[in-house]
Amino acid sequence: MKEEKILQEVATYVERKLSGEGSGHDWWHIVRVRKLAEKLALAEGGDSFICQLAALVHDLVDDKLVADEGLALAEVRDLLTRVGVAANQTDQVLTIIQSISYKGGNQNHLVLSLEGQIVQDADRLDAMGAIGVARTMAYSGHHQRIIHDPEVAVRQNMTLDQYRSHQGTAITHFYEKLLLLKDLMNTKTAQELAKGRHAFLEAYLDQFFAEWDGQC
Ligand code: ADP
Ligand code: NI
Repeated sequence: MKEEKILQEVATYVERKLSGEGSGHDWWHIVRVRKLAEKLALAEGGDSFICQLAALVHDLVDDKLVADEGLALAEVRDLLTRVGVAANQTDQVLTIIQSISYKGGNQNHLVLSLEGQIVQDADRLDAMGAIGVARTMAYSGHHQRIIHDPEVAVRQNMTLDQYRSHQGTAITHFYEKLLLLKDLMNTKTAQELAKGRHAFLEAYLDQFFAEWDGQC
C-alpha cells in the first residue's frame, strides 16, 4: 500500500514538527482533522488520499505558526516530493492548504476543489463543540488573553491584521468565529455534524453567562 506508507511518513514528519505547539494547533489537532477529513471524503466521494495528506500538512504553512509562509510552502513541497507523492497531487495539496485558513473570514472568496472543501470543513469542525471550547481557551492563555471581560465588545468584519491582533477575549472569539462556522460548512455531511457542535457551543455560553451572573 504505497499511499498508506506515504501518509505514515508524512504523519511522522508532522508529529515531530508540531508536538510542542501550545496554542491548540498541536499534533492531536492534526490527528482529529485527518480523521474527520477521511470520514467526510468517504461520505462525499472525495479523494481520501488527497484529503488526508492535506489535513496532515495544513497547519505547516499557517501564518500564525510560521514566520515565512513561502519558505514553509517550499518545505512542504520538498517533503511530499521526497516521500513519493506525484507532482500533480502535490500541487493539489499545496493549493488546498493555501486556501482553507479562516483568517477572520477574509478568504471566503476562494473557490475550493471538493477535497479543499472537505479539509476546510474538517478543520472548522475541530474549532467547534467541546474541542473548540478547549482550543479557544488554550489559544487565549497562550496569547495572554483573558477569559471574559463584559466591557470588551465583539468585533465584526475584521481585516486579517485586526483578527490576529491581541484585542478581544476568549469569549469574544466565540462570536467572532466559532458561532459563525455552522453556516460556512461546504459539504452536507459537515453541515450535519456542525449542528451538534454548534448546539454545544450555545449551551456552553448559556451556562457560562448564568454562572458569571451567579444564577446557578
Ligand atoms: P485558521 O487557523 O483556520 O486561520 P484561526 O486562526 O481562527 O483559524 O485558529 C484556529 C483556532 O485557534 C480557533 O478555532 C480558536 O480555537 C483558536 N483561536 C484563533 N484565534 C483566536 C482568538 N483570537 N482568540 C481565541 N482563540 C483563537
Ligand atoms: Ni487547523
